[in-house]
Amino acid sequence: MNTPVCGPRQAPAAFPVARPRRLRYNPLVRELVRETHLSPRDLILPLFVRHGKGVRNEIGSMPGNFQLSVDTLVDEVGAAKDIGITSFILFGIPETKDATGSSALRDEGIVQQALRALRGAFKNDVLLMADECFCEYTDHGHCGILCETRGVLDVDNDATLPILAQQCVSHARAGADVIAPSGMMDGMVKAIRAGLDDAGFAHVPILSYAAKYASGFYGPFRDAAESPPSFGDRNTYQMDPSNTDEALKEVAIDLAEGADMVMVKPALSYLDIIRRVKDTFGVPVAAYNVSGEFAMVKAAAAKGWIDERRVTLEILTSIRRAGADMILTYHARDVAKWVK
Ligand code: PBG
Repeated sequence: MNTPVCGPRQAPAAFPVARPRRLRYNPLVRELVRETHLSPRDLILPLFVRHGKGVRNEIGSMPGNFQLSVDTLVDEVGAAKDIGITSFILFGIPETKDATGSSALRDEGIVQQALRALRGAFKNDVLLMADECFCEYTDHGHCGILCETRGVLDVDNDATLPILAQQCVSHARAGADVIAPSGMMDGMVKAIRAGLDDAGFAHVPILSYAAKYASGFYGPFRDAAESPPSFGDRNTYQMDPSNTDEALKEVAIDLAEGADMVMVKPALSYLDIIRRVKDTFGVPVAAYNVSGEFAMVKAAAAKGWIDERRVTLEILTSIRRAGADMILTYHARDVAKWVK
C-alpha cells in the first residue's frame, strides 16, 4: 500500500489556528498533558474477614475476591502491599448474629481480631479502615436495631447511634486508622466523633459514607458479606437514586458533625454527585466503585465482550476525573499490576 506522507499544507486562510491534535501525535506529549492519573496510592482495597483458619472462599460474583480468615487475610494484605497497595477497608462476617448485632461490639469480634493481627504484622506501613455498620451482624440484616415506625418494622435511628459509637471505639482500640460509618443513620458522625474523642481517639479521622444510595449495585457484596436484609429494603435510610441536592445536604450535615472525608457510593452511576460534592465543599472525597460495578466488568470480560484492562482503567479514571481523591475498588490488585 502506498501511504501518503503528511507534508506541508497550504491550509486555506480561513482554517482555524487551533489544532488540538498537536498534543496527541506523540505519546510522550500525551503523557505530559494528561490531567488525571491513577496510582495504587489512591486505591482502597475492600477485604472480607471471617472466623476459621486457612479459609479462602472465592466469592462467586466477585472473581479474585475472597472471604478470608485472619491468617489468610494477613497473607493477602502482604501480597497487596508488595504491589503497591497501602490502604484497606475491612468488612466482618461474624460467627453468630442476633437482633442487636452484639458481636460487632466485642473486643474479640472478627474485625477487631483482624485489625490487631494486621497492625502487628505490618505496623504503620498499611492504612487500615474499618467499615462501621450492623447489617453484617444482625440476624435481620438491617443496618441497626429495629423498632416499629408507621406500623412497620424499621431501623431505630437514635437507638442505633450509641452502639454504633461503641463499635467504632472498639475498632479504634483494635488499631483502625480510619473509621468509616456506612449505615446512613442521621447523627451518626456526631455520635461517633464524641465516642472516639471520649475514648482518647481524637486523632482518628472519620470517612463518612455521606451520600450512600439505595442501589441495586450492592448485590454481589451482600453475598460476600452475608448481609442481605431478611425483609424489606434499605429505602428508609439509604438515599433515593433520583436525588442530587439531597446528597449535598447529607454531606453538609456530616461535615458539620465532624466528618474529615466524605464518600459517594456507588461511583459509576453517581459521577455527577461526586463532581457536585467536590466543587461545593472542596474536601477529600472518596468514591466506592461497588461490587455490582465490578461484577459487570468481570462478567463481560469473561465473555470476551470487552477488554477488561482498558475498560477498568477507563472507569477508574472517570471516577478520579469526576473529582474523587480516592477510590474503594475490588479492581485495586489488577490496577496496581497494570499501572506499575
Ligand atoms: C453496608 C455496606 C454495603 C456495602 C458497603 N457497606 C451494603 C449495603 O448497604 O447493603 C456495599 C459495597 C459493595 O457493594 O461493594 N455495611
